[in-house]
This record gives sequence, C-alpha cells and structure tokens, in this order.
Amino acid sequence: MKQNISLFTSTLLAWYRTNGRNLPWRNTQDPYAIWLSEIILQQTRIVQGMDYWLRFMEKWPCVEDLAAAKEDEVMRMWQGLGYYSRARNLHKAAQQIVALGHFPNTLDGIKRLKGVGDYTAAAIGSFAFGLQVASVDGNFYRVLARYFGIDTPINTTEGIKLFAALAQEHLPQGAAADYNQAVMDFGATQCTPKSPQCEVCPLAETCVARREARVEQLPVKLKTVKVKTRHLALYYIRWNGMTAIHKRGSGDIWQGLWTVPEADHLTSDLCSTAILLQKDVKHVLTHRIILADFYLLTPQQQPTLPSDFIWIKEEEIENYGIPRLMERLLSFSKGS
Ligand code: ADE
Repeated sequence: MKQNISLFTSTLLAWYRTNGRNLPWRNTQDPYAIWLSEIILQQTRIVQGMDYWLRFMEKWPCVEDLAAAKEDEVMRMWQGLGYYSRARNLHKAAQQIVALGHFPNTLDGIKRLKGVGDYTAAAIGSFAFGLQVASVDGNFYRVLARYFGIDTPINTTEGIKLFAALAQEHLPQGAAADYNQAVMDFGATQCTPKSPQCEVCPLAETCVARREARVEQLPVKLKTVKVKTRHLALYYIRWNGMTAIHKRGSGDIWQGLWTVPEADHLTSDLCSTAILLQKDVKHVLTHRIILADFYLLTPQQQPTLPSDFIWIKEEEIENYGIPRLMERLLSFSKGS
C-alpha cells in the first residue's frame, strides 16, 4: 500500500535516522524491557533512568522475576527515583501480566496495566508491537504546536483531542515506532522548550511558529492551580446562652466573614472537653478543599479567647455574615 507521507513526517524520519539517540530499550522488541523503560522515564531524565533500567533488567530479566519479587525489594531498587507509586504499580502490573499469561498486545489491554496511561500505552504498543498509534508526550505537543502554529492549550480536553488527531494524521503507515521516537528526540534535543535551535532546524522553512515569530509563545498551557486540602477544627461554644465568633482578617480564607474558634484559639485543656459532632466535613472552595471537624464545647465558666472574639446570643448569629461551612456547623450544634 502506497501512502503519502507528509513533509513534516518525512523530514522528521530523515532527521531521526542520523540524529536519533541510541538507547538500550530501543534495541529490543521485548515488551517487558520497553514497558520498564517507559515507567522509569515517566518522571525521570534519561541519564538517571538508564542506570536504574540496567539494574532492574539485571536483577529481574523477565516479568515473571519481577512479579515474584517482594514489594519491599522493588521499593528498595527504586530508591532515589521518587514518585514511589510508580514502583508499587510496576510490581502490581508485573503480577497482572503474569496472571494474564502474556504481555497484553492491544492498546486497551496495555492500558489496563497499573500505572499505564494513554501516552505510555501508545509508546509500548508502537515500540513493542508495531501498533499504529501516536504516543503524544510533552515533546510531541511542543513540536506540533510550533510547526502547525496551534495555540489551543495542550492541557484542555479540546487541545488533547486536537493534538492526538493531528499526531495520528501524520503517522506513517508501518513506521509508528520510528515516528514516535523521532518526534520525542526532536523535541528533546532540537525543538527544546527554551532556546530551540531554529537556525539548524530541518523544518524551519515550513514551521508556522517560526514564520510568525511565535516559537517562544507555543505551546500554550493553561495555568492550573493546585488545589490544597486544609484541615480545620471548628469549636462551637455554648456558654450561658451565648457563643463566640470573630471576624476573619485578610490573607486567609473567608476574609470578612465570621467564624467560631479553631483549636489555636483555645487552651488544650478546654479542647479536650469538646464533643465531636462530625468529622471530615468536606467543603470545596475555589483553590482549597476544607476538611473540617465540628466540635461542641459547653464549659462551666466563660473561656478566655483572643481579643478579637465577641460573645453574642446564640440566636443572633444569623445577623452575621458566616460561610456556608459555618451554617452546617450550626445545624449540627442545634441538634445537640
Ligand atoms: N522518554 C519516555 N520514553 C522514552 C523513550 N522511549 N526514549 C527516550 N526518552 C523517553
């Protein structure tokens, strides 16, 4: 079957033939060796990963050996690589493969292995089994975004779909492995994130980003704010028909709203007399997930609190601006 190979693809394949990196997991078709390299390289640079890959291959030359190893031993061998869930998943996946009786050879089958996502499955599938799939990693996004001048953010559903389709469209029939590794190496050594070598780039003449002086701006990635979890212990005090609240200051959540004391505002003696009303009440804010424990305190004497707290009649709390989470605390305290 004859097919037209795009200029993009033919140029990259030619570039790869002379510039591709000679890496040991590329000189094998053994899916185990390839899978191992992909898991190691997920968050690790080649120079560091190489050492680990060689040691793993020497200690556990086949998947049965790795599956039979003790998890502790796998973790010890992984030491220094970080992201230890990769090691735990690697060990579990080895056992999945042994239970299956063979290394899965379809994209869906490979994806069912623990720790294997879309990119990794496509990489293993194309390298080990010649599956006709593009493995779109960060390098791939960058090369495509620049060459075709696409500013759709790469970390959106639309972007992921668009770039996957484009990568697939340019995949040469029967040469998926070379194509994937060509783009990977081209992105890692030539079309680099910073200071790409456009002067000596074989794609420079037809590169849209180059023509429009947008190389530095592409690819576009939307900033995502990492949502942190914050634990709060909130103490509703019931003393003499009154409760204590304070107005929250700037530089914190719920600025300007009123809340009850937290553990920091109370003596530990007092805290130890509290009744737990509800644990781990989840409340989602824009950049935070709050996990709150609600407590009820019914002291004999009026507790001493920081000076910004005021004592109000319990029913008067409705006159103050309070966050939704406090409303939930109030509904628990009313029933107690
Ligand atoms: N990073 C992830 N997979 C790789 C591979 N097969 N070769 C080089 N770098 C990689």
